[in-house]
Amino acid sequence: MTGKFISFEGTDGSGKTSVIKEVERYLKVAGYDVVTTREPGGVSISEQVRNVIHDTENKEMDPVCEALLYAASRRQHLVQKVIPLLKEGKIVLCDRYIDSSLAYQGYARGIGIEKVKEINEFAIDGIYPDLTLFINVRPEVGLQRIFEHQASHEINRLDEESIEFHKRTHEGYLILAKMYPDRIKDVEGERSIKEVANDCFKLIKGIL
Ligand code: TMP
Repeated sequence: MTGKFISFEGTDGSGKTSVIKEVERYLKVAGYDVVTTREPGGVSISEQVRNVIHDTENKEMDPVCEALLYAASRRQHLVQKVIPLLKEGKIVLCDRYIDSSLAYQGYARGIGIEKVKEINEFAIDGIYPDLTLFINVRPEVGLQRIFEHQASHEINRLDEESIEFHKRTHEGYLILAKMYPDRIKDVEGERSIKEVANDCFKLIKGIL
């Protein structure tokens, strides 16, 4: 595959979605062929799975069921959208990928990073991102941002988790960044969108 696969990760309210938009703009101005997509979702079947996972009514959902649904959604999005784009030589910016499952389901939910990795390796068939940018914002800062932007933010079942859950997710990401130092880069996220996007752009340029 000739394209480049770049994932963005972070705790809720880290601002990564706004950062991605800005990075996409920089890359387009620089003349690159770039497509942004997101998980869970990005294609119809995966968006439908997203609705099941995030439905605030589904309070009884078992953690392993949740992990399997994210992996299923990931698989469909990967084969239907990401792989074809990479084959066309595009730069694919993906809002969340496998590390979200490792941090949220593996570490924060307590299933175990290795167990969730096993489930996901079946789903992703060796396709890891070329680069993963972890937008590092303290969880309390992220939750405050969500609270301030409630009107424009879709509140999902995971947003309703306790602050302790969000702290564990953040810890999970720090562990992953240590486990995969070549792939995952920690980007200081408590700055303006433009500053964060600039650093991301430089890191991406480094692998192009
Ligand atoms: P977002 O679209 O606002 O980033 O929300 C997606 C939510 O889903 C967020 O709370 C993180 C969560 N999530 C997981 O728990 N595991 C996953 O594998 C993915 C992709 C997302």
